This record gives sequence, C-alpha cells and structure tokens, in this order.
Amino acid sequence: MATVELHDKRFEKFIFHDEIQQSVQRLANTVFEIYKNETPIFVGILSGVVMFISDFLKKYPGNCEVAFLQVASYHGGTQSSGVVKLEIPLTTDIVNRHVVILEDIVDTGNTLEYLYKMLKQKPVKSLRVVSLFFKPGVYKKSLPIDLIGLSIPNEFVVGYGLDYNGLGRNLTDLYKLIPS
Ligand code: PRP
Repeated sequence: MATVELHDKRFEKFIFHDEIQQSVQRLANTVFEIYKNETPIFVGILSGVVMFISDFLKKYPGNCEVAFLQVASYHGGTQSSGVVKLEIPLTTDIVNRHVVILEDIVDTGNTLEYLYKMLKQKPVKSLRVVSLFFKPGVYKKSLPIDLIGLSIPNEFVVGYGLDYNGLGRNLTDLYKLIPS
C-alpha cells in the first residue's frame, strides 16, 4: 500500500521494510560487538518498540535478556504532550547489569530524559541508548544517544510499531503524514 488512511489522516509510504531491516541488522551487529563477552539486558520501551525489539532480537547473535517498561507522552494526536507518564514499571531487576534501552524513535527527547533519570538511579554496570529512528531537527536534549538506526526529517510517522491514536502499529513499513 503506497498510502493508508488512519482515523482522519492519510499517510504515504516513507521508509520501506527492507531498509528498516538492514538498519536493524546493523544495530544488532554493532551492539553485539560491544557486548559479546557480556549478557546485556535489552529494555524495550513499550508500546512503539514492539516491531523493532522483535526483529532486533532475531538478529542479535549473542546471549541477552529482555525486559520492558511502558511510558507514554503522546496521549493521541501528532504532537508530544511533553508530559511523560510511567504506565508499566520495569519488569526486571537491572542492578549490576549492562542495560541497553531500545527505543523505536527519539523525537523531542522528553521520553529519553525521563527514562535516563529513572534508570540512572539504579547501580547498573553500564547504560546505553539505541534508537531505531531519530529526528535530529527536533531533538532538544543534550543526552547522548549511543546508536541510531536512521535519522529522519521532522515528519509525523507511523508504522513499524509507531501509531496515530492507536492505529498503524501493524504496518511493516514506515509512513509519513500527508499534510491536509
Ligand atoms: C513515542 C515513541 C517514543 C516517544 C518519543 O511513544 O515510542 O517512546 O514517543 O517521543 P519524544 O522523544 O518526543 O518523547 P508514545 O509516548 O507515543 O507511546 P507509545 O510508544 O506507546 O506509542
């Protein structure tokens, strides 16, 4: 499908599944090079991360554990509310572990800043951030993002786990909003 309609908005295909898969493979290889002698915990940030973490894990060739937490900042619409809310706390103890946050997208960085402050309070061995998509034109924070899959322009995007008011997460490509 070149375009999709979700609620009141139309979206056009923007980044194809194959390109996303190549990017996920590169990230998995790079992360493995860092942690091949360790057993890292990958912390997926629900819900947008579902497709990314599933493909990432399939491509990761080493030992690893998986945990999740859920935060939300969009609460519907196409603009971040700026208020990050913890919906589901971390599902696993990360004390004294190598922790890798897996995010589907870093946009304003509000979510990342919230997560960093929360997870840094724990005595972890290391903490890194991997984001599949990144909007450099929108990012407002100074926190380092250790690994980025694809930098994208400031477009509202859906698909590959990302949603518009709950819809679009199951699309296997990334779509961008067609301005009305
Ligand atoms: C999205 C996305 C990131 C965050 C990025 O989550 O999955 O976690 O926004 O935006 P930011 O950098 O401006 O904070 P959302 O709050 O929409 O929840 P979801 O993952 O459940 O869709």
